[in-house]
Amino acid sequence: MSNKEKWIEMAQDACKNAHVPYSNFPVGACLVTEDDQVFTGVNIENASFGLTNCAERTAIFKAVSEGYKNFKHIVIVGDTDQPISPCGACRQVMIEFCKPAMPVTLVAKDGSTLDMTLGELLPYSFTEDQL
Ligand code: THU
Repeated sequence: MSNKEKWIEMAQDACKNAHVPYSNFPVGACLVTEDDQVFTGVNIENASFGLTNCAERTAIFKAVSEGYKNFKHIVIVGDTDQPISPCGACRQVMIEFCKPAMPVTLVAKDGSTLDMTLGELLPYSFTEDQL
């Protein structure tokens, strides 16, 4: 099994911990650091809907809060017919911590994948370079 297949499996496994009583739409993420630490994340919803935290942001915030800021890959798994398309807020949080060249693997519920870079997912992004 390749590393990428392992990360996909970890993101799929994480989905069982998604807290999704309102949408019933679990999302799982698996974020890999440059030194091969792995952080999973799930979406965590709230009765006050706007407080929901997406799976990708959960994984990134877990990693950053543990002192990791250099990432080499993220896998995102959705309960979707096509490979999941990450929301705009998560793309913006990804570009805060990850380089445009970082590979992103998007996965559908049947396991089919779409690979692209973060820069392809979020072109002409707003970053600290513009501040
Ligand atoms: N969701 C994610 O976790 N990541 C995304 O990129 C898209 C949306 C979650 C938020 C909410 O819990 C559910 O999917 C439906 O929007």
